[in-house]
Amino acid sequence: MAGAEDSLFIKTLKGETSKRPPVWLMRQAGRYLPEYREIRARAKGFLDFCYTPSLSVEATLQPLRRYPFDAAILFADILLILDAMDRGLRFETGEGPVLEPLEKASDLEKVSANKVQDRLSPVMETVSRLKEKLPKGFPLIGFAGAPWTVAVYAIEGRGGTDKSKPKLWAYTRPDDLKFVLDIITDATVEYLKAQVDAGVDALMLFDSWAENLPSNVFPWIVTDPTRKIVEKLRADGVTVPIIGFARGSGAMLPAYAAGTGVNAVGLDTGQVLEFVNESLPKGFPVQGQLDPLSLQAGGQQMLDRTTEIIDAYRADNRPLVFNLGHGINPHVPPEHVEQLMAHIQAMG
Ligand code: CP3
Repeated sequence: MAGAEDSLFIKTLKGETSKRPPVWLMRQAGRYLPEYREIRARAKGFLDFCYTPSLSVEATLQPLRRYPFDAAILFADILLILDAMDRGLRFETGEGPVLEPLEKASDLEKVSANKVQDRLSPVMETVSRLKEKLPKGFPLIGFAGAPWTVAVYAIEGRGGTDKSKPKLWAYTRPDDLKFVLDIITDATVEYLKAQVDAGVDALMLFDSWAENLPSNVFPWIVTDPTRKIVEKLRADGVTVPIIGFARGSGAMLPAYAAGTGVNAVGLDTGQVLEFVNESLPKGFPVQGQLDPLSLQAGGQQMLDRTTEIIDAYRADNRPLVFNLGHGINPHVPPEHVEQLMAHIQAMG
């Protein structure tokens, strides 16, 4: 039986091009699907949902029953690592995640590898069960938040802000911020290694809060910690492809791609097609980047932009994993995903 390395998704991440790009969508499991809302209502809360393998497995598989996606993504959350560090993580309805904000670096104690493994073991159980249930060779993506984004949540105690507190740490207490980034980096390496041991076929690092960072700060808070994760994983014998997604990296993208050592970069909605082709090395794989609101709106504009994205990278012989530029929002009509998939499938 063929393994995941023979799948269109993994081959693309390793630099091959094909007639049509492989496709998956960030947040492909989630609230836009009525069947997700149905099982979600059965769990006590979102954390409970993530730590119940039978529910997380089902949530991962739901979108694959509807659409011919080329990869599955583990159902979990980038903030679970902060739960393993006892940061008082809660998901409140209508509010998103809330944590106890870090006041000083030493509030974040170095968490032992054992503790990460123990607390997050339900996630690894979900991965093992998924590997049993998915067709042989069907790729499963594991993931974590990149250290800067996780640090933003840890320091602010919430997301969706202007990141002013963690940015002020960068200017006034850089050693404290480095300490926090290092602790998160080490825990993330353990967490990702455990996911790979449990069977994931690729890894993705989400740096959702990498936008609007000055070019003298971006390298040490975004690129360096991500490079450390990639280097440590490689030194530990992890060989699966790694996708780095620094959302909003703009003109920092080529330095991020070269400086982190990731195999492919995620592209956000606003990234410019021509800039990507001109500034990334020939053949460097990318993943992205349809606006989730274009998907929500649907119709001809969605199909036209999809074709435009695919044609732009094809013209440059650049391997592309088609995706959104950010996660699907709960208002996306499921039929629009069907139309998008039919459009791409018709390419070959
Ligand atoms: O299908 C998948 O993509 C897999 C699962 C997944 C979730 N979150 C499930 C989830 C993944 C890969 C994530 C990543 C994630 N989580 C990111 C990075 C990507 C991005 O969106 O920038 C971030 C920043 C988070 C943090 C997070 N988790 C927030 C801000 C929220 C609340 C906002 C919201 O959309 O509700 C969550 C909750 C969350 N994570 C939900 C899902 C399906 C919704 C919660 C629910 O069902 O009640």
